[in-house]
Order: sequence, then structure tokens, then C-alpha cells
Amino acid sequence: MSSQKPIKVALLGCGTVGTEVVRLLTDQAADLTARVGAPVEITGIAVRRPHKHPDVPAELLTTDAEALVASDVDVVVEVIGGIEPARTLLLAALRSGKAVVTANKALLAEHSGELFAASDSSGADLYFEAAVAGAIPLLRPLRESLAGDRITRVMGIVNGTTNFILSGMDSTGASYAETLEEATRLGYAEADPTADVDGFDAASKAAILASLAFHSRVTAADVHREGIASVSAADIAAAKALGRTVKLLAICERVPVGGADNQTTENGAAITEGISVRVHPAMIPKAHPLASVSGAFNAVFVEADAAGEMMFYGQGAGGAPTASAVLGDLVAVARNRVHDGRGPRESAYAALPIRPMGQTPTRYHISLDVADRAGVLSQVAAVFAEHDVSIAAVRQEGRVDDASLVIVTHAATDAALRSTVDKIGGLPVVREVVSVMRVEGEEL
Ligand code: NDP
Ligand code: HSE
Repeated sequence: MSSQKPIKVALLGCGTVGTEVVRLLTDQAADLTARVGAPVEITGIAVRRPHKHPDVPAELLTTDAEALVASDVDVVVEVIGGIEPARTLLLAALRSGKAVVTANKALLAEHSGELFAASDSSGADLYFEAAVAGAIPLLRPLRESLAGDRITRVMGIVNGTTNFILSGMDSTGASYAETLEEATRLGYAEADPTADVDGFDAASKAAILASLAFHSRVTAADVHREGIASVSAADIAAAKALGRTVKLLAICERVPVGGADNQTTENGAAITEGISVRVHPAMIPKAHPLASVSGAFNAVFVEADAAGEMMFYGQGAGGAPTASAVLGDLVAVARNRVHDGRGPRESAYAALPIRPMGQTPTRYHISLDVADRAGVLSQVAAVFAEHDVSIAAVRQEGRVDDASLVIVTHAATDAALRSTVDKIGGLPVVREVVSVMRVEGEEL
């Protein structure tokens, strides 16, 4: 047994993740004491409905989260989710010098500035590994291990629920509704699953990743966001026919800016580099390493100047995997308490500007049902040329009285592509624009 006085922990929330945090802390109490150098003890658990928690010792449960945070604790672990009351509770904890561990990406992606300011004001730690990619150690490598390198790109699958849905639709042909229901049952989905399917959850994670990777404060509002609600069975079939699969990707990259932007730093120097941060469904080749990431697994590629390419892969959602990341942070902040240390602070000195999506070139796959007669291809191609969208590949398959025309473009801006598709949709020879989707992960 350690002679050190215990590290007292207030746990806020005891749902999918919180329940597993309690279990791991209880099951591994002796090992954690040895690893930290002091016992780690939960002194209270705040929930909304105590009667729903018959397995938790009743004396630990409270509905007064505010009083629990104000009590004599060293660390506050927040697994409630959402903005309020989590924001107010964590600001109070940090301002009074209590270390915070949170899995709350929505909160961090909107309020990291004030949370870090509160952490700085008292010197309290703020750790949030579980907020992105569940069990996968990803934020600490970005925040600490790669702090000496120059990261150029972070791209990956960061939402387990949507990956579970897309994998199910692709492999078994299961319906969108069935797979979403199953993801919710398995504890992957957010309290409001529209946060998953509409891309809000992935956008919050992309904001956190971009902030850490590029030493700039990026919020969820800076992220271009498209969810998977518009991904149809036809899109998935079109991808399959071309040896591709559809994934919801989060992409954060350094990009050139300047020209018309004419931005300068505080010292008057021209800003030549910015950040593109986006979340959208995309077709990727079946041979791409991200294509085989299925179910609730996540995978993230990181590219850095000196380190080269790295891939982080593992369980991205679910109670136990997420609790593993929470416990890792808890051990880190508890060790810092025992040894009078402190974890990393916010690093946002670079303050790179965000490039709007309208100026971000990506490649597209467009599938059309067209009349099968002479001159159709040239009419369609003329619209692409008119909007300066360059065609990389065309495939046409004749049917009985019409044809399927698939066009893959070179990189084009969103704005150019949208005008092209609008005009093509109005051509009399085009019966239907079946699918329009971005293409990532291959060079033509
Ligand atoms: P749950 O909805 O399962 O649990 C939320 C918990 O918070 C419940 O115990 C609930 O109490 C409690 N709670 C809600 N409102 C209050 C309040 N006002 N005061 C006190 N307690 C409250 O969520 P999860 O465990 O799934 O997620 C928690 C956090 O972890 C979220 O930020 C989520 O984004 C994040 N996360 C979740 C992952 C997952 O796979 N589930 C993965 C990675 C991160 P009661 O039980 O009484 O209703
Ligand atoms: N709802 C999230 C997901 C939980 O599906 O990825 C993990 O952050």
C-alpha cells in the first residue's frame, strides 16, 4: 500500500463510459496505486437519475454535480457530454486548481479557449485523450510525441457510429435505420445520434485534431461538415462497381493561402500557409488502408515532415475502449499531482487561418443516367469544360434505352463542381444525377 494520501476523484456522469471508468478503477485499484504512487479514489458520482444506477454504491451517488466539483477533490472526470452543465462545471473545477479529464469533444471543440485559460489561471491539468478516436492513443502523440516535428496532414475515420453504418450498408446491404439502431444499442452513438450521422461529432474531433496538429485554435464552426444522411444505396453501389468504398472522412491539412486573401501576421509578414479542415463522405479505393476499417473501429493517418507517415488504428467508440483512454489520462494527472508536475498547455501560437471550403480543391465522382445516343458525352463534357472542371476518367455502360455515365474529375473547387452539376442536371439528355461524391486516397 502507498503511504501517499489518496488522489480524490469526482466522476461526473455514469453512463456508457462512466460505468466502465468505475469498473476499471475498482478492478485495477492495486495496480493503479502502484503506477500513480498513491491510491486513486472516487469520492462521488454525479448523475441525473440515481435510481438508474443500482450497481453503484448509493453513498457515492449525487445529483448535485456543482457541490461535488466544489468538494475536496483533486481531479474531476467528466463523462456527461454536451455543452452545459459540463462547461460551467469544468471551468469551476479548473479555476479552483482541480485537474480535469474529459471525453467531451463537443465542449472542447467549442470552448477550448476558455477551458485552457482557466487551466492556465490555476496551473491545473486539462487532459482529453478519450475525446477523439476512443481507445486509440492519438492526442498525446500529437500533443507531445510529435511536438518537435511539423505535421502536414491528419486524415481518418473518427466516428464509430457512421463507420458502423456505412460498413453495414456496404457489406451486408443492411439498411441505414437498422444499423443506426444497432450502433445506438451497442453504446457507440451520441445521446442524440444526429450528432454522429450529420457529422457534428466528427467535426468536433477534426477541430481538436487540427488545433493540436497545427498549433492553432480551430473550433467546430471552422470545420466544413457534411454527414452521411445523403449517402444512398446507389452511392454505395456506384462505389462498389468501381472498386471503391464510401467512408466518412475527417481531413485536416496545411494548405497554401495568400493571393486574394492578402493576410498578414501581427508583425506584418505575409501569411502563406493555412489550414483546411473538413468532414465529408468520400469514395476511397478498396485497396486503401482506410477501406478495411470496419464497424466502430477508427483509423487516422498522420503525415509529418521528419516522421513521415503514421497510422493509428483501434476501437473508436464504446464504453470500455473509451474508459481505457480516460483512465490513461487519470493516471497521468494523478502522477502530476503526486510529483508536483504539470501536463502540456494549449499551443496555439501559430494561429494559422482557415481556408474556406469553397476554395478547397477535391476530386469528385459523378454518376449520371443519360440518354444513350450520339452526342450525349460531348454535351456533358462541354459543361465540365465551361466550368473549368477537368475530367480524369469516364466510363459509359449502355442499357436498353439509356446509359450509365460515370465521370471522375481532377481536383476542382466545391463552387465549380456545384455549378457544373447544377447545369448538367438541367440538360435534356440527362435523366438523373444518380450520385455526386468526393474521391480521396488515390492519384490519377
Ligand atoms: P451517456 O449518455 O451514456 O451517459 C451520460 C451520463 O451523464 C449519464 O450517467 C447521465 O446520468 C449523466 N448526466 C447527464 N446529464 C447530467 C447532469 N446534468 N448532471 C449529472 N449527470 C448528468 O453518455 P456516454 O457515456 O456515451 O458519453 C459520455 C461522454 O463521453 C460524451 O461526451 C461522449 O461524447 C463521450 N464519448 C463517448 C463515447 C462512447 O462510445 N459512448 C466514446 C468517446 C467519447 P443518468 O445516467 O442518471 O441519466
Ligand atoms: N459517438 C461517437 C462515435 C463516440 O460513434 O464515434 C466516440 O467518440
